[in-house]
Amino acid sequence: MATVFSPLAGGVAVPAAERGAASASARFPAVRLRRLRRSPAMRALVRETHLHPSQFILPLFVRPGVGIRNPVTSMPGCAQTSVDQCVVDAQAAAAAGVGGVILFGIPDQKDAVGTGAYDAHGPVAEAVRAIKAAVPGLLVVTDVCLCEYTDHGHCGLLDGADVDNDATLELLAREAVMHAEAGADIIAPSDMMDGRVGAIRAALDAAGFSHIPIMSYAAKYSSAFYGPFREAAESTPSFGDRRSYQMDPANGDEALREVAQDVAEGADIIMVKPAGAYLDIIRRVKDATGMPVAAYQVSGEYAMLHAAAERGWLDLERAMLESLVAIRRAGADIILTYFAVAAARALAAAR
Ligand code: PBG
Repeated sequence: MATVFSPLAGGVAVPAAERGAASASARFPAVRLRRLRRSPAMRALVRETHLHPSQFILPLFVRPGVGIRNPVTSMPGCAQTSVDQCVVDAQAAAAAGVGGVILFGIPDQKDAVGTGAYDAHGPVAEAVRAIKAAVPGLLVVTDVCLCEYTDHGHCGLLDGADVDNDATLELLAREAVMHAEAGADIIAPSDMMDGRVGAIRAALDAAGFSHIPIMSYAAKYSSAFYGPFREAAESTPSFGDRRSYQMDPANGDEALREVAQDVAEGADIIMVKPAGAYLDIIRRVKDATGMPVAAYQVSGEYAMLHAAAERGWLDLERAMLESLVAIRRAGADIILTYFAVAAARALAAAR
């Protein structure tokens, strides 16, 4: 029997003998995708992806002192704060329903070996203790890296102009244990040294912290989108760049190898960073591992939307929520974002 492609049956191949019946019951395409878009309730009914503030993590920059709030000019709404002010921000995040915060430290003194990174009385350790005391239900994640603490701004110890991978591991492990001792709920290494998840896992276990999870910045790209963060964290490298340890933006298969390595070394949550320009990587990592996947919507992504909105070139709230839902749709469970509180409030207002 001859069959023809019939737009009258929504594009389904219809046997020639049945063509008359099909056209009688459906004079125009039987499939009209617009039917499910006609009202807010109908759209909500069939929505596939949802944003939950409990899966947002807000980055905070902590520095020594009291009563300090230094705005970061390239990141409207973000500031370097002292511990007391950081607690205020953490309380606001918790009140908005945000799941957690991730802390970055800015020490007063920097040196070649990043001594401030493992100072048990540095701003990060003090902030962990203060936030856990004030808002115990809010998850406190700590970023483990040396770049905020080294005078050269690289993420590890230098050997000449090279970053010495293996010598750096021991310092990262010390930093991680110090954070766990302060009360951190999750340890997040962002340095991209090989073997650091295993080294940190072993050190945490040996110190009695086998229950503390590691959220590994597993596929972290050498990205231009970190520019504003480096102003916020005062961590721009004094020479060269991070391409000898962070990933080449051109590579996707390599991201899966980085991820597999971190999973084998004991990572509990896998992070892709940045997010918006790497949605394909998020999807591949989720499909390949089935692990909890986090994505970091980085400073440059945040700054771009704010800059365009300031010029009246786009609607900030809509662009914010669209960028976040796209990251979720790509496969991320958790989103680290400077929009965490604004997005949580927008979602609550829309309900
Ligand atoms: C530290 C670190 C960076 C970011 C998170 N952790 C900067 C970098 O690698 O240069 C970037 C975050 C952002 O841009 O929002 N290693």
